[in-house]
Amino acid sequence: MNDVILVTGGAGFIGSHFTRTALKRGAKVINLDLLTYASDVDTIQDILNNPEHSFVKGDIKDWKIVEPLVRRADYIVHFAAETHVDRSIIEGGDFALTNFYGTYVLLEAVRKAGNLKKFIYISTDEVYGPIKEGSFREDDPMNPSSPYSASKAGADRLSFSFYKTYSMPVVIVRPSNNFGPYQHPEKALPLFITNLFEGEKIPLYGNGENMREWLFVEDCVEGIWKVLEEGKEGEAYNLSSGFGLKNIDLIKLLLSKMGKPFSMVEFVQDRPGHDLRYSINSEKLRSLGWAPQHTFEGALELTIDWYRNHQNWWKKRKEAKEFKEYYSKNYKRRKK
Ligand SMILES: NC(=O)c1ccc[n+]([C@@H]2O[C@H](COP(=O)([O-])OP(=O)(O)OC[C@H]3O[C@@H](n4cnc5c(N)ncnc54)[C@H](O)[C@@H]3O)[C@@H](O)[C@H]2O)c1
Repeated sequence: MNDVILVTGGAGFIGSHFTRTALKRGAKVINLDLLTYASDVDTIQDILNNPEHSFVKGDIKDWKIVEPLVRRADYIVHFAAETHVDRSIIEGGDFALTNFYGTYVLLEAVRKAGNLKKFIYISTDEVYGPIKEGSFREDDPMNPSSPYSASKAGADRLSFSFYKTYSMPVVIVRPSNNFGPYQHPEKALPLFITNLFEGEKIPLYGNGENMREWLFVEDCVEGIWKVLEEGKEGEAYNLSSGFGLKNIDLIKLLLSKMGKPFSMVEFVQDRPGHDLRYSINSEKLRSLGWAPQHTFEGALELTIDWYRNHQNWWKKRKEAKEFKEYYSKNYKRRKK
């Protein structure tokens, strides 16, 4: 491909992996990212000087920045968002603004420009809410539980409305829990890994029975790429590995991989409204030929190694005042 892809949030976790892949496949990438507390250019240092990659520091809510960039794009892959559920519970305003209104600005700019081949909205499995057994399909109703997932569900449906109302080429992807290199250490798995490297305990919410479906970031990027190439306008695609694990079992596995005892786990007060189990069915995407290429354990080992070898990257983030303030507010350590 030699088209221009406008990637929003391309200095963040999944967006940076996607940007690297897009460049390798011959695309030109305009990377629009505000560099909030959640990201920094050190995540994309290796591609900053790539002539096919132009990085723009800016806000997706800013019409003056967004409109000219959208006019230059053939495709948009929209990752930019406030992404941390726990922060949305402490204060949800930025989630409503960036995730919903920011998506509106992009969609409206696309409508005015009128020449886009595809707009991919990166939604989340969390829009469906919890499921006791079985797995959600794309046309199941949404039932989001947190201000984060509600803002994502709103933007997911807003994107769809631009397909329905204005026949815009919108496609939606709903990935499950990602993990891998460059994920901010406030998120569960990197928090656990880096705490263990620092000799700190792992805070585990509630009784650890909550279950998530884990997807290695490189498999996620391949799934998004498949949708970019073959996804049908107006459709949503679940993107998941089918590998679910209770948090307590995830932690036991992690402890064994890192050679640490169970006494490193500290049970803490549960997250309010904590969904017990997420599970989505990704047959629709698999029928296009996508399948995850990594085993969970293999990808977990890669991820642990990456954090072992990139201590400056995550220590800088853990030492930032934004992390410290959030961590002390969020983890009220109440032993059970
Ligand atoms: N990580 C996961 O497990 C997961 C799972 C499903 C869906 N998603 C979705 O994938 C997308 C990317 O998630 P991530 O984990 O890479 O998040 P992330 O927090 O690592 O990255 C988000 C990026 O968006 C940027 N950003 C935030 N507000 C912005 C604004 N107003 N203007 C421009 N840029 C802004 C941030 O600076 C950051 O680089 C999000 O939309 C998220 O909801 C993530």
